[in-house]
Amino acid sequence: MLDQFGRTINYMRVSVTDRCNLRCRYCMPDGVKLVAMKDILTYEEILEICGAAAGLGISRIKITGGEPLARLGCADLIASLKQVPGIEQVTMTTNGVLLGKYLPELLAAGLDAVNISLDTLDSDRFLEITGRDELENVLESLDAALSTRLRVKINTVLQQGMNDDEWLPLAELAQDKPLDVRFIEMMPIGYGKGITGISNGMLKIKLEEKFPELSEDPSVHGNGPAVYVRIPGWRGSIGFISAIHGKFCDHCNRVRLTSQGRLKPCLCFGETTDLLPILRSGADKAARKEALTAALREGIFHKPRQHSFEDPASITEQAVMASIGG
Ligand code: 5AD
Ligand code: SF4
Repeated sequence: MLDQFGRTINYMRVSVTDRCNLRCRYCMPDGVKLVAMKDILTYEEILEICGAAAGLGISRIKITGGEPLARLGCADLIASLKQVPGIEQVTMTTNGVLLGKYLPELLAAGLDAVNISLDTLDSDRFLEITGRDELENVLESLDAALSTRLRVKINTVLQQGMNDDEWLPLAELAQDKPLDVRFIEMMPIGYGKGITGISNGMLKIKLEEKFPELSEDPSVHGNGPAVYVRIPGWRGSIGFISAIHGKFCDHCNRVRLTSQGRLKPCLCFGETTDLLPILRSGADKAARKEALTAALREGIFHKPRQHSFEDPASITEQAVMASIGG
């Protein structure tokens, strides 16, 4: 459906859990308060919402977390989502730790693509950034995923003084492997507020200096706002998701569903539509669907025009990224 500014909204990011098996310092460092299990949507409830959303034109779903694979039965949810009329594509964002283990199930479920978060290729640094010694598992999962039909992307967030010196080796993953590497600018949400990121503009200049033969890649790579470049001879592309320095809100196509059942129309703002009371109202299924559809329509229509990350005082989102799903 169209929102109040005429944007087509056809993509919903669905967070299935706020739990994670890593503790990334900009997302959910140790000690973050978790949502009570009773307040987290069941898979049946997620399916109900996605069914209603599909009726409004949401045709693409991204499963996120926390870490989605930290919740048992995630592949079953994906299989069920793929059966929902109107849902054309189901993809996932994962930290990769458990991806290798669940790959067969995910493929059988019909998962279309996977984004793997990876900020460093150095084990000690991985431990420092994520709080866990899991780099080897992630790299094994990555290669396993590449050997399947799945489309694979890497999400990298660079932090000043932490991993910004690794932009080249990370980018070079796209040289020999058939994957896209996307650099995501650190956003001032949750713990990201306290960490200085790297401007993608600066990064692109460095990449151009190193690879003068680089060219823009106008082809569409997915659902998101990434802008891609290609380097001749490389198997994959390099993407830039410039949330801070390249506002892409005019073309925004997405809304988010939190693990607690709140429809969140923009990452920047805390305003949400709580769908849980509808799901748990005791009304029959048809009445719930009608109420969900009305609430979703209203929430999507009123999606804000744009974020205001450049003005920290105006950011009303208080939640940590793990409970939103990135
Ligand atoms: N800014 C930018 N990206 C973030 N992510 C988590 N927190 C932030 C933040 N503050 C990223 C993760 C993952 C994706 C789901 O969101 O690195 O790749
Ligand atoms: Fe869309 Fe909000 Fe992100 Fe802008 S900030 S791209 S409007 S979700």
